[in-house]
Amino acid sequence: ISIKPAFAEPEDFNYDETKVPSFTLPDLLTLENGDRVSDAETWKNKRRAEIVELLEKHVYGRAPTGESGLHFGEVEIDDNALGGTAVRKQVKLWFDGNDQELVADLLIYLPKHAEGPVPIFLGLNFAGNHAVADDPDIWLPTSWVPDRDNGTVEDNHATDKGRGSQSSRWPIQETLSRGYAVATIYCGDIDPDFDDGFQNGVHALFDNDDQWGTIAAWAWGLSRALDYFEEDSDIDHSRTAVLGHSRLGKAALWAGARDERFALVISNESGCGGAALSRRRFGETVERINTRFPHWFCKNFHKYNDNEDELPVDQHMLCALIAPRPLYIASAEGDLWADPRGEFLSLQYASPVYELLGKNGLSNRDMPAVNEPISTDVAYHIRSGKHDITLYDWQRYLDFADQQLRAR
Ligand code: GCU
Repeated sequence: ISIKPAFAEPEDFNYDETKVPSFTLPDLLTLENGDRVSDAETWKNKRRAEIVELLEKHVYGRAPTGESGLHFGEVEIDDNALGGTAVRKQVKLWFDGNDQELVADLLIYLPKHAEGPVPIFLGLNFAGNHAVADDPDIWLPTSWVPDRDNGTVEDNHATDKGRGSQSSRWPIQETLSRGYAVATIYCGDIDPDFDDGFQNGVHALFDNDDQWGTIAAWAWGLSRALDYFEEDSDIDHSRTAVLGHSRLGKAALWAGARDERFALVISNESGCGGAALSRRRFGETVERINTRFPHWFCKNFHKYNDNEDELPVDQHMLCALIAPRPLYIASAEGDLWADPRGEFLSLQYASPVYELLGKNGLSNRDMPAVNEPISTDVAYHIRSGKHDITLYDWQRYLDFADQQLRAR
């Protein structure tokens, strides 16, 4: 029986579990020379690096590894933000390279009466920092923003009308009241979300033939926010949770995989090119994502359009790179496009690496029922409702952070 997605999703894609082809996943625990990985040292010293290299080469492209060209500009602080409940900081992150400059605005809310440095949730946002909260003092982005026909954007520039328009996705007060700070950057400040052959945004600042796509550029930007946290004594940078929804969840996963400073990684409905296994071809496929969003991944990834079985990797390997650090993967029942089961299975198939490293995974667990989260040192839920990030999702992430970051 074909299950129709609960909201308008492209037709002519497979939403039927019985039509998922059979496939064999690349083995996580076999080195390229054929040897078995049977201890933590071999994973850490050899296999992990092999998988990073494969994912860079075939999926995301290679971000620059040298100097980032980052320096910190203006810092604005308001000790009395959000009705007196929060401290707001805004920081200009300046990047230099190739005789050009780029600026990205980092917005941070801190709990008002924190004693000592606080753990922090970091994620990119879709529409501009001003959209995450109803706060008239948030700087409007000056970079290109997509026009979603909701009257908040003029000539691809953000306007005051967009203030707070995405606040349901950012339960800031709830997060602060639980003792965590929240930080965000507009994704388009790092790299605008349209195809121009890898020329705009931060791509312009580096000579780089490895064609890091937009997802890799966003992930790189998340690491630069963490560079800032290391300099800010109000923030406990060693307890940074990186999260993202959908395309920005793909970026959060890749950031967490590449940069082991991230202490907790959260993927909210990241789907194809994120948590979902490509070989299942359920909902969005490699061909469709590369056609619709040619700038997200590297050119090599296009070789696997309708050719998933030839991929030397699959997305369980991305999840495994996060081990032994805690990882939360979440899906939504009405988001078949992102393949909830494929997202769960990635986490399950990554679990042997957690277990090898002395943590508990989800190896022998069934996919849980809707709204029944499960957690060990990794966690998963499938929420009722559509493709979105909601208070329900954040509450689960906060509970998991309490368990994994606070209990340390
Ligand atoms: C599209 C795209 C997905 C992506 C999503 C989003 O649906 O096909 O891959 O995750 O947009 O970012 O909301």
